[in-house]
Amino acid sequence: MKRFRQYRLNEKVRDFYAEVDIVVSDFIYPYFVVHGEKIKDEIPSMEGVFRFSVDELIKDISKIICLGIDKILLFGIISNEEKDEIGSMGILSDSVICQAVRSIKKQFPQIIIFTDICLCGYTSHGHCGLINNSDIDNDMTLPLLAEMAYQHAIAGADFVAPSAMMDGQVASIRQRLKEEKLSTKILSYSAKYASSFYGPFRDAACSFPSFGSRKTHQMDFRTIGQGLDEVASDIEEGVDWIMVKPAIPYLDMVQRISVHFPNYPLVVYQVSGEYAMLKQGAKAGLFDEKQIFFESLVAIKRAGAKYIISYYAKEFIINEK
Ligand code: PBG
Repeated sequence: MKRFRQYRLNEKVRDFYAEVDIVVSDFIYPYFVVHGEKIKDEIPSMEGVFRFSVDELIKDISKIICLGIDKILLFGIISNEEKDEIGSMGILSDSVICQAVRSIKKQFPQIIIFTDICLCGYTSHGHCGLINNSDIDNDMTLPLLAEMAYQHAIAGADFVAPSAMMDGQVASIRQRLKEEKLSTKILSYSAKYASSFYGPFRDAACSFPSFGSRKTHQMDFRTIGQGLDEVASDIEEGVDWIMVKPAIPYLDMVQRISVHFPNYPLVVYQVSGEYAMLKQGAKAGLFDEKQIFFESLVAIKRAGAKYIISYYAKEFIINEK
C-alpha cells in the first residue's frame, strides 16, 4: 500500500507539496471604460465589476497598483446613439480607449496595457466586422481593425488584443504596426469559441448582435484541431502572445495548446459568464467564494496558462491579504 495521506497531513505539508499556486503577476485585470466624468456604475449581471469613466478608472488603477497588479485589459463602451454601421467611434484617435490609455500611461507608466481590438462594441448592429449583404465581410473589416490597433498603439498601448476572430487579423495589424515602425505587441484571441459564457459581457458592453450570431467567425466548440490551426496561423502571422477563451470548459484546449506551442506565452480568459456563475453561486450560499475562485484559477494554471484574465483578480488579492 502506498501512503499518500502523508502529503496531506496538515496545511504546511500540503503547501510544501503544492505544484501550482496563484501569484499576483499571473493576472491581467479587465476594465470597461465609458465617456464622461465621475462614472462608476456596477454592471448588474457582474457584481463587483464596473463601467468607469477615465477619471474614476485612474483612481481604481491606483488601488490595483497597491495590490501589485500590473497588467490591465481595456474595453471601450459607447452609447447606442454613438454607434454606427462601421464602428467609427472605435477607430478615432481620441476614442474612449485612446483617451484612457494616454491618461493611464501619463500617471502610471509602469502599468502594462492591453486593448481589445474588435468592432462589436462600436457598431450599431453589434457585429465584430463590417456588414455587407447581411454578412460579415472579413476582408473589408481587416483595415478597420488595423487602424484601431494603430490608434491604440500610438496612444501608448503595450499590447493590442484582436478579438474579432477575422481571418488574417493578426497579419494586417502586424503589417500596419511595422509600416508605422511601432513595436507594440500583439496578443491574439487565437482560440476563441462561440460561447454562451459571454452573456454578461454583452450585457456590460451592450454588444449583443442585433441579428444572427457570432458562430460564423468564433470557433465551433465541437472542434479540436481547428484550435491548434488557429494558433499556428496566428504565429505565422506574427503574434507575440496567444489566448484561449473561455477558460474552465476549455481546459483541454489550454493543455493541448500549451504543450504544442511552449514558446508563446498563453493567456487564458476566465470570461464574464464563468465569473458571474461563481459569484452568483457563492451568493446563493452554494460555495465559499474565495475557495471556489481559488480552485478554478489553480485549475486554469495547472492546465498550462501563463497568465489569466479574470474579473476576480482584484478581489482575489484583497482577500488574500
Ligand atoms: C469582443 C469580446 C467579447 C468578449 C471579449 N471580447 C464578446 C464577444 O465575443 O461576444 C467576452 C469576454 C467575456 O465574456 O468576459 N468581441
